[in-house]
Amino acid sequence: MATGRGETRTSTVENTKMSNGQPRNYTNGHKNGHTNGYKNGTNGKTNGKSEKGGRWQDDFEEYFEETPYHIAILTYLGYALMVFIGHVRDFLRYYGIEQDKSCTESNQEDYVPLYQNWESFYTRNVYRRIRDCWNIPIASCAGSHIDVQERVTHDHGWNFEMTGKTLKVMNFGSYNYLGFAENKELCGRDVQRVTEKYGVGTCASRQELGYLDIHRELDSLVADFLGTEAAITVPMGFATNSMNMPALVSKGCLILSDELNHASLILGSRLTGALIRVYKHNDMKDLEHKLRDAVCEGQPRTHRPWKKILIVVEGVYSMEGSLARLPEIVSLKKKYKAYLYLDEAHSVGAMGPHGRGVVDHFGLDPHDVDIMMGTFTKSFGACGGYIAGSKRLIRHLRANSHSAIYSCSMSPPVTQQIISTMSCIMGRTNPQEGRRRIQQLKWNTRYFRKGLHERGFIIYGNKDSPVVPLLIYMPSKIALFSRECLKRGLGTVVAGFPATPIIEARARFCLSASHNKEMLDKALDIVEEVGELLQIKYSRQPVPRWTSEALEPSPE
Ligand SMILES: Cc1ncc(COP(=O)(O)O)c(C=O)c1O
Repeated sequence: MATGRGETRTSTVENTKMSNGQPRNYTNGHKNGHTNGYKNGTNGKTNGKSEKGGRWQDDFEEYFEETPYHIAILTYLGYALMVFIGHVRDFLRYYGIEQDKSCTESNQEDYVPLYQNWESFYTRNVYRRIRDCWNIPIASCAGSHIDVQERVTHDHGWNFEMTGKTLKVMNFGSYNYLGFAENKELCGRDVQRVTEKYGVGTCASRQELGYLDIHRELDSLVADFLGTEAAITVPMGFATNSMNMPALVSKGCLILSDELNHASLILGSRLTGALIRVYKHNDMKDLEHKLRDAVCEGQPRTHRPWKKILIVVEGVYSMEGSLARLPEIVSLKKKYKAYLYLDEAHSVGAMGPHGRGVVDHFGLDPHDVDIMMGTFTKSFGACGGYIAGSKRLIRHLRANSHSAIYSCSMSPPVTQQIISTMSCIMGRTNPQEGRRRIQQLKWNTRYFRKGLHERGFIIYGNKDSPVVPLLIYMPSKIALFSRECLKRGLGTVVAGFPATPIIEARARFCLSASHNKEMLDKALDIVEEVGELLQIKYSRQPVPRWTSEALEPSPE
């Protein structure tokens, strides 16, 4: 089912144990669960200490409750029943007893049909029944509220008709973490001015005539923001991974990739020609084991040493809401002399006291990460991505990356949107506004997570992750959840197999600095009501200890 993540993966479900095998201890969080202080340092380095100066582990709480057995069995049965009914109906369609509304290929003699496989079967018989929950047309910008265009189906999801009505709902599904998607006040005028001056398209690649002065300004602003020597920007986030990774590693290299990495990282890794080994999500023992084996055994057959070993991780995992255990990954990469590629698509802007991502959140030195990647499509309300690192790295990418040579450079208004929002986050323009948004997002995250835990839902992820997955499990219930929430004025995203493991279908809330307390309360009430209706309050664990600590008043 549709989400941004295009790959099937198995999940490592942690129970109430940490990945180091120790029982999870909820008593070691902050006194008041709040870390809203800005440090005065220029790059936020605190050498792996938590924001309050303790060990980073003291403030690292992630929650992954195991799927209850009876729910797992019922979910498998639900899918098995749908597949069985699907086969019966395909049989009826084949013999013309039931009308076949799916697209059919014209009969090309001796050709193997292009689309006859399990995926088509699944789309036709399972996904189609709940298809109304995805691809909904939206008629507004991705702000705190969105206008949803109403559709109806009279044939169980084969076709849709627009009713002409528009519903205004609260938006808890967009990656608008800092609220910059709504930019009339803050950046709208700058963007308009740049559009008038440069137009919308550059009509040339960076290496030809497409490298404008504002691109240069953006490159150096990104480097300044992240505390690296240099940066290069790319017009598409997905292509930042898929087109730059092949310029960095090749045959004879090894990629160690977290099993939950995004499709763009998987595609980029495959395009490199390097050998890919996948390690269990955030499992440091497994990563170390694979690193040690790689160093000891070298390449298969020849046993020559690997040319390079590249560890590829994300900052915040967008389907689990978990954070990379970055301090441990950094120390492993140093121990085994591997390179580290960090994708901060969901964390840059949204994490850390200065909004510089998970490196900032853990108080690490940005120079400890060899390749810092991120996108502008989330916290910056824009488009595109960046790679930041040493001058040598960026010089190499400018000369060798497919994205710099063969694709047009970033659209000028988009470039300006990023410059304006990043300057605001850095406090260079609108002093306090960027800081206020970062604090608001952090407060909203804890408040909303706390509310869901207290209401008895199973939610995944780190207490500071603005991505909040709520486990629903059964395919019929994910559709009902989406429909019932929308009816009550709450727009959110639901995801199921193959975007999640088969028994871990979920709703995913994305919090934003543009939400206020009133909206969060209203959303929690709606989720509570729908949760009661669908009986999805599955949690059997005590609520995490940090939720009982008083939150400071909202910074609104
Ligand atoms: C981790 C990660 N990397 C890269 C991308 C691709 O970014 P974009 O949507 O900006 O193309 C995404 C998209 O959601 C992502 O989650």
